[in-house]
Amino acid sequence: MTRLLFRHQVNEAASLLKAGELVAFPTETVYGLGADATNDQAVAAIFAAKNRPTFNPLIVHVADIAAAREIVDFSDEAEALAEAFWPGPMTLVLPKRDAAQLSDLVTAGLDTVGIRVPAHPLAHDLIKETGLPLAAPSANPSGKISPTKAEHVLAGLDGRIAAVLDGGACTVGLESTIFGGDPVLLLRPGGVPLEAAEKVLGRAIPPAHPSATPNSPGQLASHYAPDATIILDVETPGDAPHLGFGPGPADRNLSKSGDLSEAATRLFALLREMDVLASGSNTKRFTVAPIPDTGLGRAIRDRLSRAAAPRP
Ligand code: TXA
Ligand code: MG
Repeated sequence: MTRLLFRHQVNEAASLLKAGELVAFPTETVYGLGADATNDQAVAAIFAAKNRPTFNPLIVHVADIAAAREIVDFSDEAEALAEAFWPGPMTLVLPKRDAAQLSDLVTAGLDTVGIRVPAHPLAHDLIKETGLPLAAPSANPSGKISPTKAEHVLAGLDGRIAAVLDGGACTVGLESTIFGGDPVLLLRPGGVPLEAAEKVLGRAIPPAHPSATPNSPGQLASHYAPDATIILDVETPGDAPHLGFGPGPADRNLSKSGDLSEAATRLFALLREMDVLASGSNTKRFTVAPIPDTGLGRAIRDRLSRAAAPRP
């Protein structure tokens, strides 16, 4: 049985983590499946619980930039991005310091670490209370839709992890934007719009060539996958259940006013609902309205195209 813990039980969640157990916790992006990043067995248990390939490295969550400096070396550009967007929905992939105390499973043996300072107050309190860096992928079975509520975590992982710390619905709703390299490149679009980061660096930030992250299922064509078939960029709904964006008829709507941050917040929960609607239909499919390819729309389109991709 997985325990459901609340705000006043952060210390219990921390004790479980310190004992090497797995605890899912809220961040502003999605729920993470946390473990002590210095404990080989605890980190191995993350891969087992998610059924995640062990060659896919995990993001390390720390309380502040000072804690991050103990684990990785910052370039000037990384400093500028951290200054602008931490705490917040951004991960930096940076060279691991020799002194860093991390299980090698966290980095899948790479000499870089994906590191993030989350903004969610419960995540912050939990990390502080453990005094540990926490390795945490999204708290869903590998390849499935990421969780933005505690109940989503339980739907996928109940019985496989010690506890879920319930912090309500995630406010950003999309995973962190990942930057890496020097000069930095975009590894994954996410909760920090690319344009905002480009403004900080005063230059365009190109996407990394896919071969730069060959081992990353988050970067694979099929990911975030519901059971239904998904048809994207459908302007006019037909017979299949329709997920709208902006005004117009739809079974569910990401944002009636066409607001991209509202759409991001609602995306994963609505994909789950659309999957249920589609499973009750003849064709087992649903359609999705076009989403603009700017700001958070870039990350929304990225997740939708992976959700819609043919399964391996
Ligand atoms: O918002 C988020 O990023 C959430 C919350 C829980 O922090 N986490 C998340 O983790 O989305 P996950 O494991 O689902 O995605 C992490 C991505 C993967 O694509 C992984 O391959 C990449 O980060 N990653 C982690 N460390 C890396 C490294 N050293 N080099 C390249 N990619 C890395
Ligand atoms: Mg994930």
